[in-house]
Order: sequence, then C-alpha cells, then structure tokens
Amino acid sequence: MRIGILGATGPAGAGLAARLSSVGHEVLFGSRAVDKAKVAVDELQQKWGERASSLIPCDNAWACDAPVVILAVNADSAIPTVKEHSERLANKVVVSMANNLTRNGNEFNAVLPPHGSVAAEIQAFLWRSRVVTAFHLVPAAEFADLDHTMESDVVVLGDDDEARETLMEITGSIPNLRALDGGSLRNAVGMETFAAVLLTINVRHKMKASLRLQTITESLRSPVGMASSDRVALSLPPLASSDRVAGGATKFAACACTTPPAVPLCRSNPGNRSASTSAGSRPTTARIWGTRRRTSPTTC
Ligand SMILES: NC(=O)c1ccc[n+]([C@@H]2O[C@H](COP(=O)([O-])OP(=O)(O)OC[C@H]3O[C@@H](n4cnc5c(N)ncnc54)[C@H](OP(=O)(O)O)[C@@H]3O)[C@@H](O)[C@H]2O)c1
Repeated sequence: MRIGILGATGPAGAGLAARLSSVGHEVLFGSRAVDKAKVAVDELQQKWGERASSLIPCDNAWACDAPVVILAVNADSAIPTVKEHSERLANKVVVSMANNLTRNGNEFNAVLPPHGSVAAEIQAFLWRSRVVTAFHLVPAAEFADLDHTMESDVVVLGDDDEARETLMEITGSIPNLRALDGGSLRNAVGMETFAAVLLTINVRHKMKASLRLQTITESLRSPVGMASSDRVALSLPPLASSDRVAGGATKFAACACTTPPAVPLCRSNPGNRSASTSAGSRPTTARIWGTRRRTSPTTC
C-alpha cells in the first residue's frame, strides 16, 4: 500500500518508514524540507539496502498524496500541521501517534487539548478525514532496527470501521506486531495518557518498555455480572531470566504480581480479526516488556 508519513525525519517516523518499506509498502517520506527528507532516506537506504528501497523522499504536502497518512511530526506540531494540510488530507485515513507529554521531575503527564485527546482534536479539525490512532506505545528504536523482531502490540482506535481495519491490516503486515481493535476515538485519551505512565515507568525503572497483551486462563473467576470472555485485566508478571532480547539484556516485567488483579479495562472485540487470530475471545492481560540492567524483578 502507498503510505505517507509527515515528519518522517524524526526517530518515530524514520523507524516506522523503514519498517513499512521492509514489508513492501511504498512510503512517501515527508518533511517540511525535501532536502532533509533526501538525506534521511539516503542514510536509511545505505544502512538497509533493498529493505528500504521503497522510501520516496518528499515534502509533507506530497506525502499527503497517499490514501493513508501518518502524522509523525513532534506532538506539539500535530495540530498546526493538520491545519496546514487539511485540504490535502480530506477523504484520507489520517493516523495520529502523538503523545503530547510534559515532564515533571521523574514523572510524565499527558497534556490533553479541549476535545480530550490529540486524536480527537485532530478529528475535529479534519472533519472530512477519517482519523485513527496507533503506535503510541511502540518505542521508535523498536521500529528502527529492522533486524529486531517486533515484540509490541498496537492498539488501533478510530470512529470509522473501514479506516480502523485498514490500519490494522497495515500494522499486521509487520511480522509479530499485533494489531488490536481498541474501539472509537473516545478511547484515545487512554492511550495518550498511558503513554505518560509507560514513559514514567521507563524512567523510574531504567528500562525501555512497550506493551504486549496476554490472554489469561479461562479458569479465573469473572467479576460479578461479567462474562469471563468480556474481562480484560492488567497484570505485570515477572519474566523468566531466560527471556532475552537482541543485545543480551534481560527482558522483565515491571512488577512481580503473580495474580492478575481483576481490573476491567474494556471489552474484548469479537470482530477483531488480528486479535482473534491469537487471542480468540479469551480474557487478556497487559504485559509490559522491557529491558534493564539489573536482573531481579521489581516488587509491586
Ligand atoms: N519517539 C518515540 O519513541 C515515539 C513513540 C511513540 C509515539 N511517538 C510520537 O510520534 C511522533 C514523532 O515522534 P519523534 O520522537 O520522532 O518526534 P520529533 O523527533 O520530535 O519530531 C519529528 C519530526 O517533526 C518535524 N517537526 C519538528 N518541528 C516541527 C514543526 N514546528 N512543524 C512541523 N513539523 C515539525 C520534524 O521533521 P522535519 O523537520 O523533517 O519537518 C521532526 O523530524 C510524536 O507525536 C510522538 O509523540 C514517538
């Protein structure tokens, strides 16, 4: 598929562009300055050769030519950028991955605009576009190393079913990157806010974490009034010391809870093709993957 990326010269855009090119997508690699895009594409093609051969350097306006356009500009610039290109983005699937965060000491917090999330704000401006969100919790470095097998899950949100499915298909075309249907844009606040939580965990635990959702056993009791197939719980189980990532660092979960607390987060979506392939309708837990230097698991 032809995919445009605005602000593709940053770590997130460049990593995603290389990864999408490596699985056969044609990527319009956008920047405010086409020369900057050319330099970045040259570097990626020197590094990855054929795997990055379908990157096309261009300016952001040209990148809007694709049917699916990913906004990878810095979060502060997401709204001004969509305002600038609103005509070109009409009738397109527009993907927001923006986490507008502020850092307070060793904690990150989400800065949410009047419509409740950056994604909802973008949809309000781009009323003729179909806005979806994804990739909030995937570290740029994970996309960028094409020799690394992806380990993250990607929650896709959007009000338009067809647009959401299109992005899930694109996401699912990257091996081992599982796309999960998280519902409408109303839930974007959850992803943007959780990005702040995840970064705070990364800072406080000196790790690089992303998200992997894990199915839990059917034998666990459901909360009263809820079918077990409707339950999703958050658990952060410890990983075996044998779990290793490229480079030899130990993968671990941030917390050593052994019993997942029954915290209902959202309902599983039986229509989710990507998720149902591996998770079916079974309850799911969220596992945070990461690396750190120390080897003992952190307690709750
Ligand atoms: N980095 C991550 O690990 C990560 C993970 C998940 C989600 N995200 C999200 O992905 C997006 C990109 O992240 P990033 O770390 O790659 O961002 P970044 O490096 O701060 O910026 C990306 C690009 O935005 C463009 N840009 C900068 N200032 C601009 C302005 N005033 N107007 C328009 N464009 C401007 C620049 O491209 P040009 O100069 O070429 O135009 C720059 O290379 C952010 O919304 C972030 O929240 C990042």
